[in-house]
Amino acid sequence: MQQTKVIAHRGSKGTHPENTLAAFQEALRVESDGIELDLHLTKDQQLVVIHDESVNRTTNGKGKVKDMTLYEIKQLDAGSSFSPAFKDEKIPSFQEVLDLLVKEDFKGLLNIELKTDHEPYPGIEEKVIQIMKQHKWLFQVVYSSFNYDSLIRMKERDYEAEIALLFEKSKGAQKKIGEKYTICMWHPKINWLKRVGLKTYPHQSMRPWTINSLSQMDYCFEQAMSGLITDYPELALKRRKKW
Ligand code: G3P
Ligand code: CA
Repeated sequence: MQQTKVIAHRGSKGTHPENTLAAFQEALRVESDGIELDLHLTKDQQLVVIHDESVNRTTNGKGKVKDMTLYEIKQLDAGSSFSPAFKDEKIPSFQEVLDLLVKEDFKGLLNIELKTDHEPYPGIEEKVIQIMKQHKWLFQVVYSSFNYDSLIRMKERDYEAEIALLFEKSKGAQKKIGEKYTICMWHPKINWLKRVGLKTYPHQSMRPWTINSLSQMDYCFEQAMSGLITDYPELALKRRKKW
């Protein structure tokens, strides 16, 4: 039976400000099997790691990522809204996160989510492919997105790219993309998985999100899912020892 991989959602989102170097450092400290992050593109075409299209929720600034330069983004405090202890934590560039993973000799799974479902960010796929060419052999990489056109563009540019479909409900599009390309993994919202069950897809290729309660963790371990995506990687790793 396969061991369920513990994937740190936006770093260790439950304990540190999401998608910051502090959150990724924590995910590394607890020895997460995988790390998930979200990518957007700035006005000056730089890849940055943030969840929302705007900086409003997670920083002391206002505005959309696509309307700001990397320099402007770097002036923001992305830590204080989580806790004053993280004051002046910054929104990292994608390269900074990769540099951290390389420096810390991360050998796990990097789940790169292309946040193109609300902003199309023309050219983002090509940029990601180019940057990942240099890191391809350092760790395992899987690209996920709610925007399947983005995943298709990734496959068109790199036929070896591993893709994972993010979804909350079953949709025809999932079947359609599956007919054309090998879908490595399914990343469903846990509610869907519980409702539809494991009848539709094999559990070996499931990595549901966001698995934060002990009972949900146990469910994933019991079903020997491929992975679980959690805001609390340390808790999940401790829990896994019971299995
Ligand atoms: O990878 C699962 C999860 O990250 C998808 O949802 O909104 O947290 O990016 P979200
Ligand atoms: Ca995400």
